[in-house]
Amino acid sequence: MDLYETIKIRRSVRAYKKDPVEDDKLDRIINAALLAPTAANRQPFSLIIIKNEQVKHKLKDAYSQEWFYTAPVIICACALPDAAWKRNDGKCYVDVDVAIAMDHLILAASAEGLGTCWIAAFKPKVVKNVLNIPDNLEPLILTPLGYPEIIPEPTFRKPLGEMVREIK
Ligand SMILES: Cc1cc2nc3c(=O)[nH]c(=O)nc-3n(C[C@H](O)[C@H](O)[C@H](O)COP(=O)(O)O)c2cc1C
Repeated sequence: MDLYETIKIRRSVRAYKKDPVEDDKLDRIINAALLAPTAANRQPFSLIIIKNEQVKHKLKDAYSQEWFYTAPVIICACALPDAAWKRNDGKCYVDVDVAIAMDHLILAASAEGLGTCWIAAFKPKVVKNVLNIPDNLEPLILTPLGYPEIIPEPTFRKPLGEMVREIK
C-alpha cells in the first residue's frame, strides 16, 4: 500500500475481531518498529508482545476498557532512558525514540489491514508488575493489535493554516 494511503486510512480502532494475527504479519510489523531511527542510533526501547489470555486479563487492572482485550495481541513499548541520547543541556530524547518506533509499528499494522490504538492512559505500576518489567524500563505506550470490527470515521484535524507557519 502507498505510504500516504496508509497514513490516511489509519484510525484509532476501539472494536476488534477475535481472529488471530498471522505470524508473518506480526513479524513484518515488529521489524518495521526496529527499523525506526533513534537519536545517535541508541535504540533505547524494547517491545513486549502479549498473546497470553491470562496476562491480558491481569492487565485489566491497568486499563479497564473491555474493547482493548478483545484484540488477540497487545503490544507494550517500553523506554530505556539510561541508554537514550541526551542533548548537551540534558534533554533526554527517549520518548521521541519510542514514539517513532511505535508509529512505524502502527503504520505497518495499518498497511497490513490491522487495527491499533495508542494507549497512554494506563497505570504504569500495574503494567510493570504484571509484565515483570525491570526498574530501568518504563512502559510508555500500549496498543491492541488485531482485525478491526468497526473502522471509525476520520477524526477532526485543525486546518493547515492554524498548524503550519511558513517562512519564505
Ligand atoms: C500519545 C497518545 C496517547 C493516546 N492515548 C489514548 C488512550 O489512552 N486511550 C484512547 O482511547 N486513545 C488514546 N489515544 C488515541 C487518540 O485519542 C487518537 O489518536 C486521536 O483522537 C485521533 O484519532 P485517530 O487516531 O483515529 O486519528 C492516544 C493517542 C496518542 C498519540
